[in-house]
Formats: sequence, C-alpha cells, structure tokens
Amino acid sequence: MAQKLYIKTFGCQMNEYDSAKMADVLAAADGMQTTADPAEADVIVFNTCSVREKAQEKVFHDLGRVKHLKQARPGLLIGVGGCVASQEGAAIVARAPYVDVVFGPQTLHRLPALLEARRRTGKAQVDISFPEIEKFDRLPPAQRVGVSAFVSIMEGCSKYCSFCVVPYTRGEEVSRPFEDVLTEVAELALSGAKEVTLLGQNVNAYRGHVGGAGGDDARESADFALLLEYVAEIPGIERIRYTTSHPKDFTQRLIDAYGSIPKLASHVHLPLQSGSDRVLAGMKRGYTTLEYKSIIRRLRAVRPDISISSDFIVGFPGETQSDFEATMKLVGELGFDDSFSFLYSPRPGTPAAELADATPLPVKKERLALLQAQIEAQAGAVSHAMIGSAQQVLVEGAAKKYSGELCGRSSNNRTVNFAGPPELIGRMVEVQITAALAHTLRGEYRVPPSGGECRVPPPVGENRVPPPVGECRVPPPAGECRLVE
Ligand code: SAM
Ligand code: F3S
Repeated sequence: MAQKLYIKTFGCQMNEYDSAKMADVLAAADGMQTTADPAEADVIVFNTCSVREKAQEKVFHDLGRVKHLKQARPGLLIGVGGCVASQEGAAIVARAPYVDVVFGPQTLHRLPALLEARRRTGKAQVDISFPEIEKFDRLPPAQRVGVSAFVSIMEGCSKYCSFCVVPYTRGEEVSRPFEDVLTEVAELALSGAKEVTLLGQNVNAYRGHVGGAGGDDARESADFALLLEYVAEIPGIERIRYTTSHPKDFTQRLIDAYGSIPKLASHVHLPLQSGSDRVLAGMKRGYTTLEYKSIIRRLRAVRPDISISSDFIVGFPGETQSDFEATMKLVGELGFDDSFSFLYSPRPGTPAAELADATPLPVKKERLALLQAQIEAQAGAVSHAMIGSAQQVLVEGAAKKYSGELCGRSSNNRTVNFAGPPELIGRMVEVQITAALAHTLRGEYRVPPSGGECRVPPPVGENRVPPPVGECRVPPPAGECRLVE
C-alpha cells in the first residue's frame, strides 16, 4: 500500500507552492499519497514560516502535538522544512530529538534522499544549504493541475529590508532560466491550466538566462516584461498574474506591458509598507512615496481600471503619529484595494530588531485597527462599484458556500459566485455582477450572444436552428434556452 504524507503549511503562497512540490517529489520518488489526517501518515512535514511572530515557538508547539503519534506508528518520520528550518537548522533536532529531517526552502527536492538516509542510518538528517537553482532541475512535473496554476520564476531576495528575515532564510535572488519557465508554463497549459501566477519574492527583479542553462557567460538575460510577453503567447494561457513585485524594480517596460498584454490581470500587488518617507528610509525599502505614486499614476494611465493592493507594516520602530497619519492619507489618496497589514514583529538577526522602539503596543494595535478599517471600507467600495458591470470570470470549480453554484475569479481578483452548469469549469466566461457581499461577489452568467457557444440543440420540429456542429460546447443554465434569430 502507498505510504501517506501529511503536510501542514504556514505562511505565504511561496510556501503553498513549496508544499505542493514536496508532495510531487515524494509521489514521484516513493509513490507517496497525501492525507489530511496526521494520524494515518507515514511522513509528517511542517512547512514553516518565520516572517512574523514567534514562529519558532509555534513550530515547537505543533511538533509537540504530533510527537505521540510516533508511539502508535513506530515507522513514522517527522520533517521540518521552510524558513524556520532554514534559520534554526540542527537546533530543531537538539530541542525536539524526535524530528527526523530538517530541510530548507532550497533543498526540498532532496526530501526523498533525506528520508532514506534517516531510515538507513537511524540518524536525524539536516540539510539547509542554498544550492542555487538545482532545486528546479530536480523537481518532477506537478501531479494535479487546476485551472489556475503557480509557477515559481525566482527564489530568494537581495533587497535586505531592515525588518525582513527572507534574504537570510531563502537566500539571495536567483532567477530560473527563461526557457525553463516557458516550458513549465506550456506543460501546465497542456494539462488544462488557463491562468498562471508567476511567483517570487520580487518577480520584477527577474533576470533569466536565455539560451539554456549551459556554461556560456555571454548568454543574454530576459527581464520580467519580456517573460510576460512570451508567457502571454503560450497557447491555452488566458490570464497571467504574479506576486510579489517590488516598487524599486517596477520599470517603465513593465508598466507598458499593461498596455500591450491584455492577458495581464488588472490587479497588481505592490507592497508599500508605509506612507512616510522617514519610515521607508528606516526600512531600507529603496524608494520614496513620490516614486511609488509615480508608478501608480503611470500604471493607471495605461490600464485605468487596474486594482492596486499592498502590504503595510504598522508600528515600525520610531513610527510617530504623524508617520502613521501619512500612511492613512496615502492609502486614501491612492485608493488601495483589499490589502494586507501587519504589526511590526522584530525578527532576530535583522537590523531593525536592534532599533529602539518607544511606541506602546496598545497604540500600535489601535493604529493597525484604524488602517484595517480604512482598507476594508475602500475594498468594499471597489466591490460595490462593480455591481452591474460585466466581468470576465475564470471558473475554478464549485462554489464553497452555495451548493450547486460555481465560483471563479475576476480580473481584479474578486471571488465571484454564480449559478451555471459544471461544464463552465475551466472556462473564461462573462458574468454580470449583481451583489457585493463582505468578501465575495454574486453574479449571473451571461450566455454569449449569437454565433457564441451556448445553445441547446432544439427539439425537432420547432422553429429553431441548431448551432453549427462543434459550436455547442456548453449548454446554458436551465431555463435559458434561447431562440436563434
Ligand atoms: N517581497 C515583498 C516586498 O516587496 O516587500 C514582500 C515579501 S514579505 C515575505 C511579505 C510581507 O510581510 C511584507 O510585505 C511585509 O509587509 C511583511 N513583513 C515582513 N517582515 C515583517 C516583519 N518583521 N514584521 C511585520 N511584517 C513583516
Ligand atoms: Fe523581505 Fe524586503 Fe525582500 S520585505 S522579501 S527583504 S523585498
């Protein structure tokens, strides 16, 4: 019988992607199948995050909760991967000796070998090295491909913002070769993906070698705008998203791409962090609010309906009331859509963790609540403004809350629920928005007009014309059968 794998993922989309790759690697090497129940697992993996909070403590707490399973299943192996593993390394095994393997984000492809070595030697295995891009060369193709797929185009970060642990846990920026990315996207498209989200800490710092991964130093490199152009040409790909981009690398070429590539979704997630230039300098973000505003102005000039979301940190050391007010003012001025905001969390080993911080926690929490209320109000206004509009929705599957309905996402990243036949899953369809709820929209599927695809073959003898052969791909929802003029 196939062995079972249970993975618990903490943190960002990058970690979600890495967890899927861990499952792929173990399925390809050992035929392992995933399970949602840790009690029936042969291997348990925690894919950890250390960007905020006392992540280390959370991991040890969760590890303690599965430790007893080893008594019931003596062959059970426990692994810790991700950023906490990368930071703590062998210290994890020293503190929790029942942990069998520790591996970092860059060595997840070595998981089968690490588990095998643990079984063979009886000794815990730790590998948190940064073998650059080797990981991508060793990963098998994805097991399950949905309508919307993720593709990692680069690893790590070289920006060293003063508050952030990522450059230390994931290493410096390394881009995947250009052709490798295109091949992976083409394979995903052949397996049914219609949308790709290109992933990286700073995707717009992408510099992928063109002409294979050989040793030729004179090779050219492609920037992110060029990559987008090529991805858009891949047959089957209908929509392109990416996350996260950085204001410092947001070139005019990337802005122009919004004018020339209609497949680029009308949504950009562009972390600002603070609306105060003084705080931005302390964060070592490498841009001013004026520069940030200029990017947004130019983006809106080429794509007027573009939705902009962002990340904010509240309570960075030394943030004054007027710094915070500058953030609130800019949030309103730039009309940000749904965004993330966090309380500053000192990260061991980062420069900002050494800074004096006189602001009391209750004051920081109050500021965070004000910012979140403002962002929520603005996101609600964007949703309400969409009522009555026709949106291109990529149908992802059955709606979670509404039985018998479908759900998909609009170009500006809203979840839209609507009634429609299951045959629409995997297709880009037009949906008229009818209502805006707290976090989702409701809509009505619009059957394409004549010459379109959704005609029910009429009963024989009635004065209706059947569609040309091959055109009737999707029947319309019950009761919507229309006479062809
Ligand atoms: N690459 C992205 C960028 O351009 O900023 C950010 C990636 S980071 C992993 C995701 C978000 O976590 C950041 O944008 C920041 O808002 C937040 N973050 C990172 N370190 C943090 C800290 N020490 N305390 C609070 N939030 C933090
Ligand atoms: Fe972190 Fe700044 Fe990089 S937030 S991921 S060091 S861009």
